[in-house]
Amino acid sequence: MAQVSEVDPAKLAAARAAVALVQDGMRLGLGTGSTASVMVRELAARAEAEGLRLRCAATSKATADLAENLGLRVEALDAIGWLDLTIDGADEVDGQLHLIKGGGAAHLREKIVAAASDRMVVIADPGKVVETLGAFPLPVEVLEFGFETTRKLIRRALEGLELGGRDVMQRLRGSDPVITDEGNLILDLHLGEIPDPVALARALSAIPGVVEHGLFLGMCDLAIIGRPDGGVTELSREADLDADMLAAEGDRDGV
Ligand code: 5RP
Repeated sequence: MAQVSEVDPAKLAAARAAVALVQDGMRLGLGTGSTASVMVRELAARAEAEGLRLRCAATSKATADLAENLGLRVEALDAIGWLDLTIDGADEVDGQLHLIKGGGAAHLREKIVAAASDRMVVIADPGKVVETLGAFPLPVEVLEFGFETTRKLIRRALEGLELGGRDVMQRLRGSDPVITDEGNLILDLHLGEIPDPVALARALSAIPGVVEHGLFLGMCDLAIIGRPDGGVTELSREADLDADMLAAEGDRDGV
């Protein structure tokens, strides 16, 4: 299979287990990020070896380029219409399979693609599994128009949820603003902990300049957590979190 020696074994294990779910003829959503790119490589290798006929919608330009270069058939989401399965990474996963996504600034397209899928499978290393969401700064994609006004409204919404005083930072690359594939800006909300993700999601979605936030609630059907030994642990929505996995939370390796 593809580039085994260069790849984090936990990510590779999760990616391979997810790619094993793919069947001939499927319409697939391809996620974004380092774990998703391992999956795309594994998928392309399997598709070539087995002659799988797949139709893929990508969640970012970067993923579309990678997948096309590897010989996968990438089409516009609207051309495919509906997807059987989306496989994507995540920045945090809790025991209810609520997610924080958007570390790669792609959560808008990722959410649209996941919402158009029968099934969303998340692949991750153990450092992504948390008891409570929020240590990873929550990405919020916002319009450039009225950017500072939107930031104020977000701060006000956080105060209403007893999350006031937290940093709401514009994401930069060097000294330049990060611009998403849709031409928008990103605010990262350094919350520390999100006690009520549903209330926060609702409050953010009610702000006009917010295009999309990175909370994925009730969207993920299965999380496949790869382990460094090459095994995987599968988390379903009701599953208790594995204590060892929580202990490994500090293992996060660069998103
Ligand atoms: C991109 C995402 C990614 O799925 C998330 O950031 C995880 O990335 P990685 O696999 O590189 O840790 O949401 O917007």
